[in-house]
Amino acid sequence: MDLKGRDFLKLLDFTPEEITYLLDLAAELKDKKKKGIPVDDLRGKNVALIFEKTSTRTRCAFEVAAHDLGMGTTYLDPTGSQIGKKESIADTARVLSGMFEGIEYRGFGQEIVEELAKYAKVPVWNGLTNEFHPTQMLADLLTIREHFGYLKDIRLTYMGDARYNMGNSLMVACAKMGMHFTACTTPEYFPAKELVDQCKEIAAQTGGSVTLTDDVTAGTKGADVIYTDVWVSMGEPDEVWTERIKALSPYRVNRTVMDNAGPQAIFMHCLPAFHDLKTKIGAHIGERFGITEMEVTDEVFESEQSLVFEEAENRMHTIKAVMAATIA
Ligand code: CP
Ligand code: NVA
Repeated sequence: MDLKGRDFLKLLDFTPEEITYLLDLAAELKDKKKKGIPVDDLRGKNVALIFEKTSTRTRCAFEVAAHDLGMGTTYLDPTGSQIGKKESIADTARVLSGMFEGIEYRGFGQEIVEELAKYAKVPVWNGLTNEFHPTQMLADLLTIREHFGYLKDIRLTYMGDARYNMGNSLMVACAKMGMHFTACTTPEYFPAKELVDQCKEIAAQTGGSVTLTDDVTAGTKGADVIYTDVWVSMGEPDEVWTERIKALSPYRVNRTVMDNAGPQAIFMHCLPAFHDLKTKIGAHIGERFGITEMEVTDEVFESEQSLVFEEAENRMHTIKAVMAATIA
């Protein structure tokens, strides 16, 4: 398998075999890291990390992974560069290609990262757009595979805003890997029909399936993975909280949902999560709407079934695999 020089913009661009190769490489790199065996053969190379939205996991994962591989990193924060203000994406791509061996980009529309990749002469990695979060998918697939031992036929139910980056990406990831994806939410938050149709076609080839339902009991019954995300994503206006809380409260992941799924079920979340009022925004929203929890209850978040921190660690091992595999 040779992925040298390839961009990593969305899982739709990769075959199931290529995704499996990246997961196997991540598992190998994780094992070596745990044993203290260095893998730093990218010494002397450098990567640029562009973040037009904030981040904890993705930024740290790229920085630690790059340093482990022997590389230098340059972080461009949401305000501290010329990108999009004084300089076009096409020009930025060509400037950075002269100094770096790879470019990570987190921002708004998917078309921006696609444009960056079109003009860059080095691999471009999508660190989250409004539409897709592909590096998160590798971490999630690795976490599921580590827990169950396999991916094929795993049933994953996503609850919440399924039209955005996480719902879209999980649907694609499940379709690619022969898994059964269910979006369990109110119909106005189902993923776009075009992407659903595309994923159904992929699933028909891999033995997976795509189901959309607004019925919580039917949608979560027997699920192996219950997955949720914040109800309001980065970059969305504050005004949408009212409609989201109203529409999505029936789809909160609570003990009843987990019990309905069954004892085999694990809980996953890309994080950050609103599971209590201990954050600034959490406290503010709690006070404004009189609620104590949002997409997941604290009980489920803190339970034995919750693998959220294993999942977060796997961001680093999988991002390391993406860089190791694609840097020429
Ligand atoms: N899951 C994730 O992408 O987290 P950050 O926003 O902290 O990078
Ligand atoms: N949907 C969330 C995912 C964060 C990792 C957002 O875009 O803010």
